[in-house]
Amino acid sequence: KFKDGSSWEESQIKRAKNAIGGFTKLKPQDQIEKRKTEEKQYDYVFDNSQAIQFQLDSTKDEKQLNREQQILEEKVKEEEKRIKTIEQTRKSLPVYKKRTELMQMIKENQVMIIVGETGSGKTTQIPQYLYEDGYTQNGRYKIGCTQPRRVAATSVATRVSDEVGTKVGDTVGYTIRFDDKSSEKTEIKYMTDGMLLREFLTDFELSAYSVMMIDEAHERTLSTDVLLGLLKVIIKTRSDFKLLICSATMNAAKFSEFFEDAPIYNIPGRTYEVELYYTPQPEANYIHAAITTVFQIHLSQGPGDILVFLTGQEEIENMAENLAETSNKLGNKIKELLICPIYANLPSELQQRIFEPTPKNARKVVLATNIAETSLTIDGIVYVIDSGFVKENKFNPSTGMESLEIQPCSKASANQRAGRAGRVGPGKCFRLFTKTAFETEMPDNPTPEILRVNLNGVVLLLFSLGITDIWNFDYMDAPSSDNLAKSLSLLYSLGAFNENGGFTKIGRQMSEFPVDPMLSKCLLTSGEMNCCSEVLSIISMLQETSSLFYRSKEKQQQIQASREKFISKVGGDHLTYLNIWNEFVDSGYSRQWCHDNFVQFKTLNRVKNIRTQLERICVKQSLILENAQASNISRDKTILHVMKSIVSGYFWNVARLNRGGDSYKSLKKNQQVWIHPSSAMFKLKPPVKFLIYNELVLTSKEFMRNCMPISERWLSEYASHYYTDDELNEGGKKK
Ligand code: CDP
Ligand code: MG
Repeated sequence: KFKDGSSWEESQIKRAKNAIGGFTKLKPQDQIEKRKTEEKQYDYVFDNSQAIQFQLDSTKDEKQLNREQQILEEKVKEEEKRIKTIEQTRKSLPVYKKRTELMQMIKENQVMIIVGETGSGKTTQIPQYLYEDGYTQNGRYKIGCTQPRRVAATSVATRVSDEVGTKVGDTVGYTIRFDDKSSEKTEIKYMTDGMLLREFLTDFELSAYSVMMIDEAHERTLSTDVLLGLLKVIIKTRSDFKLLICSATMNAAKFSEFFEDAPIYNIPGRTYEVELYYTPQPEANYIHAAITTVFQIHLSQGPGDILVFLTGQEEIENMAENLAETSNKLGNKIKELLICPIYANLPSELQQRIFEPTPKNARKVVLATNIAETSLTIDGIVYVIDSGFVKENKFNPSTGMESLEIQPCSKASANQRAGRAGRVGPGKCFRLFTKTAFETEMPDNPTPEILRVNLNGVVLLLFSLGITDIWNFDYMDAPSSDNLAKSLSLLYSLGAFNENGGFTKIGRQMSEFPVDPMLSKCLLTSGEMNCCSEVLSIISMLQETSSLFYRSKEKQQQIQASREKFISKVGGDHLTYLNIWNEFVDSGYSRQWCHDNFVQFKTLNRVKNIRTQLERICVKQSLILENAQASNISRDKTILHVMKSIVSGYFWNVARLNRGGDSYKSLKKNQQVWIHPSSAMFKLKPPVKFLIYNELVLTSKEFMRNCMPISERWLSEYASHYYTDDELNEGGKKK
């Protein structure tokens, strides 16, 4: 018998019928006739006397057969064991005890705030409970769950797929930008909050979902904040829709207030006492202090893994290297240290390593960013080392400058970090700062992202959803007027609105690309200038520039030499990226080529994937994609067109060479800026007079990243509406 209750024969008949197919072209009467003859054929095939007699493959001896059967049996046993452990684990989570009560409350309330310690099972279990209780109505609806971080979305979807017993992308799937592992069959969908925001563009009522769980809401990412405002509208129009806001133990009251006093449900945690240690004096270098503390714990404390909170990838990589060196030197004088880094950009194969159980006689040291604060649960942690710092993106609307600033984290974060040590038993948290610093220098809560980042993308999105009164949108914390005004004026200058504030076709087209509006404008222009394919490649490369070339101290010179081969003096970083991409394509996307040129194959593979997806949107918008070469346009002309397309989107970011000749001044803001050392145009002789940059970042200096030389004339061509004659001509001296 088969799943649907049919016998083997019946299923064979069905299969054979499907295989014949093709009678749709016949008239109904003929169809019936045809079917009759077909059915006769089957009677014939399944006449027992005609049945095929199968023989056992005589080349297989009995022993082998036995072995195979044994293997099969073992596999089944293993699978049964796996299911049992999964069941046990699921039942051991704190949320399990509250399942009935929680589900009853969800039934009775449209909106609920759910609060619980990290690891209590909110993210992995609640969507499954809803699924098991029939909230998807057999596939008619989906249950959605948003995550602020890509890593969390993918790793949780993998875990839950495992628990449900299906492949990722079947019943349980995920969608993150440029990576979609969900299908028609998907009923539990994890996604980044940014992706859900994009779904609003095609489905304003979120009609595909019966329940939406906004997870890690306490992180207050830009996308989560905008989602909360939009969802507040949906709950009023769709009474069948349930909204769950999940957060770690901070800020719950604020969410409840925002949703008209929605009930707060607490999942009691399973946490143990964590002893807090402070340093008596401030530490000058928290990385050194962290390394010393790791060895101190390793040599003097009982078993248990260590989790170290740092601020970013580079710090983590440096510390990992340093730890590995030191522990190598100590050799077998100490027990083995397994060093596991985790940060947002870490390739997913490596991310999974932090979840693997630590072997006996070894100790795991996880080096993490604040990603491990709440969104990931790592079992076995007993010791936490907290640098007390966090890296935050800050945007200054008046200068257009972005900076990633390392600054003290909030008290709430520090407490959350300490809590990670008390999951399996009593733990210890070593804070690399003084008690006074905790009390006086750390803010109570982190600043919501909406108050400190560039809002161009969000404003464009709101407009495309028909929300034009962005000043009065229902924000939990309203962004500054300056920042909103700056985004509006940028979008207006790009042509997204007309003089009356109406949304234009260009604006709508721009909003469909999941990239910065300035980049989408470049793409739209390139479509008109016959170089869309080239600009598409550049934009895809720009999404992945941070890990393009290998990093290795020993091979630094060779890597530098390889970089220089690709440099385009005429076209700066943008055309340099195009050169790299084109050669990679010409090599047939070869891994060997990457290896020979010190380029990361994985990165280019991601670029390839991004490019395919952006290309799909270009096709949808009927942008001409034909490669310029194929349409017989000269290479020089193509380069010119590519550069002009970039200018059409980035004319806000123009800088003019200062008289001294080593620094630049931004045209509108008159601010002194420098070319970033990583740029193809760094120390180019002679320096170009005008250039365009993609980003302005403040690190040790005000640096322009991803620069391209431009001709002054192009500005009058593309930005005469934005710059005054005076600005273009150095205070009007020339003209
Ligand atoms: O969301 P919350 O922090 O309440 O907990 P969760 O993420 O649902 O985690 C519940 C349990 O699932 C954890 O204790 C982990 O053991 C396990 N888990 C896992 O093994 N792998 C993941 N990627 C996520 C969770
Ligand atoms: Mg969670």
